Amino acid sequence: MSRTEYEALLDQARWELASAADTDELEAARITWLGRKGRIPGLMRTIPDLPEAERPVAGRMLNQIKSELAALLEERRLALAGTSGDEEQEFDLTHPGRTPFVGRMHPITRTLREIVAVFREMGFDVVEGPEVESDYYNFEALNMPPHHPARGMWDTFYTKVPRGMVLRTHTSPVQIRTMEQCDPPVRIIVPGRCYRTDTPDATHSPVFYQVEGLYVDQGVSLAMLRGVLDTFAHRIFGADVPTRFRPSYFPCTEPSAELDIQCVGCGGGGCRMCKGTGWLEILGAGMVNPDLYGFVGYDPENVSGYAFGMGVERIAILRQGVEDIRLYYENNLRFLEQL
Ligand code: DAH
Repeated sequence: MSRTEYEALLDQARWELASAADTDELEAARITWLGRKGRIPGLMRTIPDLPEAERPVAGRMLNQIKSELAALLEERRLALAGTSGDEEQEFDLTHPGRTPFVGRMHPITRTLREIVAVFREMGFDVVEGPEVESDYYNFEALNMPPHHPARGMWDTFYTKVPRGMVLRTHTSPVQIRTMEQCDPPVRIIVPGRCYRTDTPDATHSPVFYQVEGLYVDQGVSLAMLRGVLDTFAHRIFGADVPTRFRPSYFPCTEPSAELDIQCVGCGGGGCRMCKGTGWLEILGAGMVNPDLYGFVGYDPENVSGYAFGMGVERIAILRQGVEDIRLYYENNLRFLEQL
């Protein structure tokens, strides 16, 4: 058999396999060509009768044809079964389709947007500010002159070039930036990324998100603050969750308070999550310290205001029952897909 005869043979086999219209026809073609009494094995059996010099060439060619036909057969079998993968099932129109993998928002982004949505509904405008901030906006104009001990509340990243800038430790600087540019009334929320030189652990991340709030107008009262924050807490944690205002200290507010919700883990009885207190702190707040108005040219005799700030990861952790803030930043899909 010459090389052209082999080629012709192969072409014919190819054609028969390719034109098999269903699995039965394909099986028939397989038996014709590759079955025990099929044409290829038949030709192989004639090799010993060939002149000795031709045997190796004929053997090699027939083996090549055999393996090519076997591959073609498998490909065709899968195509007829309606799959291109390695599964065995036949094509069945009634099978439910495979759900395609679609991405979704990161749980922190989702929480951030929910918080923002609640305040927008209450009439707050969204404002953003720079993440690399001057010492003036991050500290000084928030009532923390150089060497003020309250600066120690924030472990701060300082930039080398240019010297004297910081990575903002909170979103509060945007309060000052906004008041500098707008006359009262000012009613804003500020979502954004913040930085602190905290060593990562279950409750600290050197990068995290805050949402800041500020309302300055004539006649703004502590009772209004309480009302807005209660509404927020009820929208995010459930309409029935008890809240409490606890006195606290922040340089930019006077008086200052923290808002607690009753522990979502134990309902107030005391557990590991609330360290036995029955309450969970969710944000800091207070009446804008009139000293701040001096920095932005507002008349403290004429206006008053409240401010608040919260950590987005903290809110997400409490709502989603996540035990470790680092999980949000490791981007392990098996974790993220559960939320
Ligand atoms: N800036 C504070 C922090 O990062 C949070 C805060 C507390 C913001 C009280 C405020 C506020 O606006 O009034 O710890």
